[in-house]
Amino acid sequence: MHMYKGHARAYTNIALIKYWGKADQQLILPMNNSLSLTLDAFYTETSVTFSSEFSEDQFYLDHQLQDKKATDKISRFLDLIREKAQSQLFAKVDSQNFVPTAAGLASSASGLAALAGAASAALGLSLEEKELSRLARRGSGSACRSVYGGFAEWQKGDSDETSYAVPIVSNSFEDELSMIFVVVNDQQKDVSSRDGMQRTVETSAFYDGWLATVPQDLAKAHTAITDKDFQALGEVTEASALKMHGTTLAAAPPFTYWSAESMRAMNLVRQLRNQGLSCYFTMDAGPNVKILVQRKDEAALLGKLQEHFSADQLITAHAGPGIKITTKEVEA
Ligand code: ADP
Ligand code: DP6
Ligand code: CO
Repeated sequence: MHMYKGHARAYTNIALIKYWGKADQQLILPMNNSLSLTLDAFYTETSVTFSSEFSEDQFYLDHQLQDKKATDKISRFLDLIREKAQSQLFAKVDSQNFVPTAAGLASSASGLAALAGAASAALGLSLEEKELSRLARRGSGSACRSVYGGFAEWQKGDSDETSYAVPIVSNSFEDELSMIFVVVNDQQKDVSSRDGMQRTVETSAFYDGWLATVPQDLAKAHTAITDKDFQALGEVTEASALKMHGTTLAAAPPFTYWSAESMRAMNLVRQLRNQGLSCYFTMDAGPNVKILVQRKDEAALLGKLQEHFSADQLITAHAGPGIKITTKEVEA
């Protein structure tokens, strides 16, 4: 019997306007639109083979066979694809993260986009970008944006059919930007993005305040991209992150993803900005800080950061490409 092996490489993306909260947990429909930049420095490579020889799904991450809990999560996602392709075959998933896993560096975005791409290709589905984005969304919300290179917007929609990401017309503004990652901790976080946002939606008194200002922040980001206005894009990026992180402090029980080191990095960004170096920070569900800077100022910023952080804590990224999928015919 002939089967296909699917392979995909997907790059991580960092949201400038954050996704924070679900309207539907099961379908992963978000409460608000989000806007991101796909990056070239971090990515996931995933291969998927389906075969009648397999009697269960197997999931290897970074060459380690994963336990039942992690594998069940993958199986539930593969079920969506099996249903679409009308297949009952089990799969072997072999994934490698070129990004720390579950550290707030968006491994779920590259990881689930790569899995969606590789598994759908392996079962012979050749999905259009929009369909692939919808599918990736079911694995991890942020993954729907990693289908595209450069800037993307996840349009929240109100159903499985209408919630997916689209590329943003940018006149290559993304090529004028750099993002420097200040990695203060690459270990797995205590509160996953999924649990953190759910707790916030359900209990935070600040959540309504967050939601209320997203449309205007999104509009500002769009205008800034159209006008290639770095300062405007930076300001709204930093504001969106601060508001998102503000909501967690009012959750019950309260929590924060910030550490003392995160604060140190954020304060340094403010200080450098006061000294005339135009740069802005953002943070996700984890303590690591990402700094948006114009490419022309990248070296100057890196020089300043090196006075405070070691070289191996600083990773420079530029705009990255969309997902790359390949298939190979194999005996199965
Ligand atoms: P992050 O900040 O890294 O996105 P999340 O809490 O959003 O952290 O998601 C981490 C989870 O994403 C992991 O526990 C795992 O379930 C999933 N994940 C990460 N990388 C992969 C991968 N390569 N393949 C499949 N699932 C992955
Ligand atoms: C703070 O996409 O990781 O990084 O949909 O539950 O898998 P799930 O969560 P995930 O959440 C990302 C949250 C964020 C902001 C963002 O990427 O937009
Ligand atoms: Co994630």
